[in-house]
Amino acid sequence: MTAFTKYCDSNRDTFETKLFDLLKIPSVSTDPQHRSDVRRAAEWVLGQLQALALKTELIEGDGHPIVYAESPPVEGAPIALVYGHYDVQPADPLHEWISPPFAPTVRDGNVYARGATDDKGQMLTHIFSTRAVLEVQGRLPIQLKFIVEGEEEIGSHSLSHFLATESERLACDCIIISDGSQFAPGQPAITYGLRGISSFEIRLFGPKQDLHSGSFGGAVTNPANTLAALLASLVDPNGHIRVPGFYDDVEPLSDREREQFQSLPFSERRFQEAIGVDGFSGESGYSTLERRWARPSFDIHGLWGGYQGTGKKTILPASAGAKFSFRLVPHQDPAKITTALEEYLRGHLPPGIRMELDTSQGASGFIASLDSPYMTAAVEAISQGFGHPPVFIREGGSIPIVTQFAKQLEADVLLVGWGRNDDNAHSPNEKFSLADFHRGIRASTALWKELAKINKITS
Ligand code: BES
Ligand code: ZN
Repeated sequence: MTAFTKYCDSNRDTFETKLFDLLKIPSVSTDPQHRSDVRRAAEWVLGQLQALALKTELIEGDGHPIVYAESPPVEGAPIALVYGHYDVQPADPLHEWISPPFAPTVRDGNVYARGATDDKGQMLTHIFSTRAVLEVQGRLPIQLKFIVEGEEEIGSHSLSHFLATESERLACDCIIISDGSQFAPGQPAITYGLRGISSFEIRLFGPKQDLHSGSFGGAVTNPANTLAALLASLVDPNGHIRVPGFYDDVEPLSDREREQFQSLPFSERRFQEAIGVDGFSGESGYSTLERRWARPSFDIHGLWGGYQGTGKKTILPASAGAKFSFRLVPHQDPAKITTALEEYLRGHLPPGIRMELDTSQGASGFIASLDSPYMTAAVEAISQGFGHPPVFIREGGSIPIVTQFAKQLEADVLLVGWGRNDDNAHSPNEKFSLADFHRGIRASTALWKELAKINKITS
């Protein structure tokens, strides 16, 4: 047993207690009512980094604060930038939680709380591994920089601005991110691809107030009917998105990658069971993993309009709306997709309907190079922490800042996720396995050691 392992084992309770402390803070970035909680979470993270005697700074602007810290440079060794986020998604629907979302509770070896896996638990593994190395060895074998932000779940605008204006402060050789999943329990993974996203809110307005559907229905355009028809028209029966030009920059999946996805030990049946469905649908000609990881998709996230109360009410509502997004693949440009969608919607609006459309900056998809000494170090570190070498996977989620990181810092991005597919990220009863939490800390400890073997002078 190494001194690090011993240290990590004897500090399990301390690490867990600290994780629970952070999980108690409802840092919901999208909700202005939680603004001070988001700040409290930033200060909590800052405090953890200050306790390691790192040089720290709370970077503040119009948005939520960014936590920054760095350790001293190490001659001849690489610089790793650790990125994570302390903000979380809203906890609704609250009544579906077995224990309250911001009262972390342990059941069957998992801690249940909003943000447990996404991303507080995963992000903290790197802070605690750093603590372990500092306590055991007195110094770090490489220079570490930490950037932990509070706007990942809403598009990373402040960080994007900081990166555009002060990228030299973040200069590094590789970027370490734990904000994703293993391929299966006990089968760790390195993620080499992420999807991008373009998201929207549409609001349709018809008559100046709700109308009797008997007196007016059939003659007055109904915003809810229009919304349903417009949204349904976005995808054809083969699961193809109908917005003109949508596929212009989508590259076909290579045979090699399709074979590689196929070689992964993926069971459709077990995946169906885990999410409680009895079948799948999607773009024809593609497997479930291909659809989730490497093809674009369209999803409605919320939909409203008209009477939602008990019983019947025969009205033609004055307005209706929806939140929806497209997941994008690498090379698709979120700005181009946004323009194309807006044109499509405006061109298909029937008379008597006015549309408001909120668009976002979006995020591009990402593909990493597998062929680098940093990747090799990550493979070795994960093997040590999890007792199993990782497989290479792509993921369907988005981490908006990743592409900008890779481009602007010209550094390799290592997406080393410690979570599980059934951790219920963004859903009720989000959880994180405490065993994965501790394995993550061990793998991260090993990562600092493995990265230190890469000699920056001779490489
Ligand atoms: N941790 C996720 C990203 C992720 C999801 C990685 C699934 C791997 C697998 C991240 O916190 C997230 O949820 N991002 C948002 C970004 C969006 C709101 C701009 C997402 O993907 O919805
Ligand atoms: Zn998330």
